[in-house]
Amino acid sequence: MNESISRTEKMVKEVFRDDSTGHDWFHTERVRNVAVQLAEMEGGNAFVCEMAALLHDVADEKFNENEEAGINRVKEWLLDLHIEEELIREIMNCISTVSYKGGNNKAPTSLEGKIVQDADRLDAIGAIGVARCFMYAGATKGKMHDPEMKPRESMTKEEYRKKEGTAINHFYEKLLKLKKLMNTSSGKKLADERHEYMNTFLEQFFQEWEGKR
Ligand code: ADP
Ligand code: NI
Repeated sequence: MNESISRTEKMVKEVFRDDSTGHDWFHTERVRNVAVQLAEMEGGNAFVCEMAALLHDVADEKFNENEEAGINRVKEWLLDLHIEEELIREIMNCISTVSYKGGNNKAPTSLEGKIVQDADRLDAIGAIGVARCFMYAGATKGKMHDPEMKPRESMTKEEYRKKEGTAINHFYEKLLKLKKLMNTSSGKKLADERHEYMNTFLEQFFQEWEGKR
């Protein structure tokens, strides 16, 4: 078990070595640490949570030709490690439900899936969430803020097509919604403080923007 973890850690470090979109190795490491912590608090299988957290972004379609290729890549990795079939099924089940795709994806069905999704979401909010959001916007040549920008979901299709999102807008489209979407009660508790921090950040941001501070 420990050997599987350390080999996986080494592989994932290599995959995300040069990332500057907010998915560097340290993102995975934080998600892994929080997932293990949540597993202890919520009583989930710590090995399944840790492996799924380590591999959650390796399977992401952003880093693969398509979603299926990403899933297969992780499945083959786990088979190569000779992990029991039942555990592989549980790990894959977590990974397939972890990412947020505008709320259209399947909800996690297992406790471990809920834990890993909570851990990934916690890393998108709070001070780290603020930092990752602006990293992402910079890496994708997006804007910091545009005062004329409305939340994209309140735009007509025409407006949506023409406008790129901004980092500030991303808070309203996604980050401020995550607290309510937490699955576990321990995750909810951890989300509270991080959520408040983002509100404080935005309040000060707009005051400075408007020259009021
Ligand atoms: P993950 O794969 O870890 O679940 P995402 O790929 O959705 O996360 O996003 C990675 C990071 O980039 C997150 O912190 C997220 O808030 C940020 N991000 C994603 N999309 C945008 C966007 N359109 N504008 C700004 N930040 C974004
Ligand atoms: Ni992630």
